[in-house]
Amino acid sequence: MSTANDDLRGLIRTIPDFPKPGIMFRDITTLLLDPAGFACSVERIVEGVDGPVDLVAGIEARGFIFAAPVALALGAGVLLVRKDGKLPGATIAEDYALEYGTDRIAIHADAFAPGARVLLIDDLIATGGTARAAVRLLRKAGAQVTHAAFVIDLPELGGADALRAEGIEVATLVP
Ligand code: PRP
Ligand code: HPA
Repeated sequence: MSTANDDLRGLIRTIPDFPKPGIMFRDITTLLLDPAGFACSVERIVEGVDGPVDLVAGIEARGFIFAAPVALALGAGVLLVRKDGKLPGATIAEDYALEYGTDRIAIHADAFAPGARVLLIDDLIATGGTARAAVRLLRKAGAQVTHAAFVIDLPELGGADALRAEGIEVATLVP
């Protein structure tokens, strides 16, 4: 696939004032509508993976879209990191701060054995609050989490650097 990172950026549109005034929302729905662009984004993530991966953890909801094809390409399973209250079995959960209030993500408690090598995937990292909570949750459950990948980085919000400070190697495709 020959789509360059610059072209990937062109497939992601920015919608002003969503979900509230002042936010410039990076919208991946246009990337997903483009088969070559979507395939390229998955290939770029897969190319950046070094070392064996047992499970690819996708963060609800847009992280799921990228986690599934990356897992298939790596011969790994897919682990759903969901908003709390959505998983049917026994879960373990982790809270994280939002601009106002908190949110909670969860995984199934029996999803993997201790020591499983988990790659974390999401569409976008902004403040890093969601991804850092996912890493805490996965580590609490006994996973080895050393790598994370995101299609979009909003570097001015510092999330990728905050994740790196916690010992995670972070790959991003589009600033
Ligand atoms: C967005 C995005 C990341 C997170 C990034 O998800 O897909 O998961 O926010 O923000 P952060 O780095 O500041 O934590 P959102 O919570 O909007 O959920 P959605 O994918 O279900 O729309
Ligand atoms: N786009 C999508 N999700 C987001 C964004 C954005 O710009 N900022 C925080 N989460």
